[in-house]
Amino acid sequence: MPDAPVAIRAGNPTASVGIPARQIVTADTPRLEIRALTRRFDGRAVVDGVSLQVMPGQVTCLLGPSGCGKTTTLRMIAGVERQDAGQILIDGAEISGPGGDTPPEHRRIGLMFQDFALFPHLSVAANVAFGLTGPREAVRARVAEMLARVDLSRYIDAWPHELSGGEQQRVALARALAPRPRIMLMDEPFSGLDNRLRDEIRDETLAVLKEEGTAVLLVTHEPEEAMRMADEIALMRGGRIVQQGAPYNIYNAPVDRAAVAFFSDVNVIRGRVQGALTETPFGQFLAPGQPDGAEVEIVIRPQHLKIDFDREGRGPLPTPQDGTPARGVVQRARFMGNESLVEFRMDHDGSILKATVPNVFLPRPGKPLWLTIRRDRCFVFPMR
Ligand SMILES: Nc1ncnc2c1ncn2[C@@H]1O[C@H](COP(=O)(O)OP(=O)(O)O)[C@@H](O)[C@H]1O
Ligand SMILES: [Mg+2]
Repeated sequence: MPDAPVAIRAGNPTASVGIPARQIVTADTPRLEIRALTRRFDGRAVVDGVSLQVMPGQVTCLLGPSGCGKTTTLRMIAGVERQDAGQILIDGAEISGPGGDTPPEHRRIGLMFQDFALFPHLSVAANVAFGLTGPREAVRARVAEMLARVDLSRYIDAWPHELSGGEQQRVALARALAPRPRIMLMDEPFSGLDNRLRDEIRDETLAVLKEEGTAVLLVTHEPEEAMRMADEIALMRGGRIVQQGAPYNIYNAPVDRAAVAFFSDVNVIRGRVQGALTETPFGQFLAPGQPDGAEVEIVIRPQHLKIDFDREGRGPLPTPQDGTPARGVVQRARFMGNESLVEFRMDHDGSILKATVPNVFLPRPGKPLWLTIRRDRCFVFPMR
């Protein structure tokens, strides 16, 4: 039996929702705010003091590896799981916390979870109407409006099994949005779709969510999905949010090595600090704030290594931007479609480094080449 969507009352938005009449909602009041939310199972905190905000009309992605506590966080917001500590607010009013709990059906939260199954015994129209109350004409109008919005008006009288996976997904979206939820919680909603469909459905879904102006908290373990959908990403690991910000900032100013590695392959070069600098075979790197003798890791993505040809045993001249070149020997090279991936064994220590090059570049194994590191694209982190 599929879960029923939890958002219900469409008619009177402030009845029974627990918003005091004097509650003032200003433009900078988050639609959703969670404060220090914690949930323990068998004494282990699987969600450990998680705080975040979602502004009206914004899509925030909770991004992290499987098991890091994303679904548990969403379940607490939906009200189907009770936190051990912390507070949940909608439009500045507490819906769960020390003051008590608003029951799930009164939170006006829309849900789209992994198994988004439609009710098989209900028509498409009845599925979309499921969470709606009020005069029959109003319900019918809202159903028609939502089916038009997801471009499925022609299927209003169809049965779920007559629709493709992607179409069923769009009906599920229409169903979740029909009662005008204040917040949409989406838990890996696209994971059941095949790759080819997924990008298209994601983009369509995003367009509908933006048109409706709903605040969205979307859970995913796929960085690509988060980058594609999110206005803001909250990077989660081991029950905690380790970084939150715009996708651009998360990608370009990661907090640690794992945050870099979550989005792409990485190369790591180790060094020891002397006078706020680290000496490496690739030249010196700044290590501001690091004491003498501290070990640091220089982390660089494969697309930010530069490759140069070997000229009678010599590489390009050092430059301030790219530092000193170091020589390596090609181990293997593969064509990946948009780019080529080349693996090197470095002369200086036998370590393996990976570089990507746009288009086709397939040097033969055994060929010596020179690598430089783009200074403006590497990250220096203290070793833990
Ligand atoms: N009801 C439960 N009882 C015990 N452990 C649970 C329960 N629900 C989730 N967990 C554990 O909590 C951790 C986080 O789970 P979950 O929130 O589902 O992670 P995610 O959605 O990020 O994959 C996992 O280790 C999971 O096994
Ligand atoms: Mg999950």
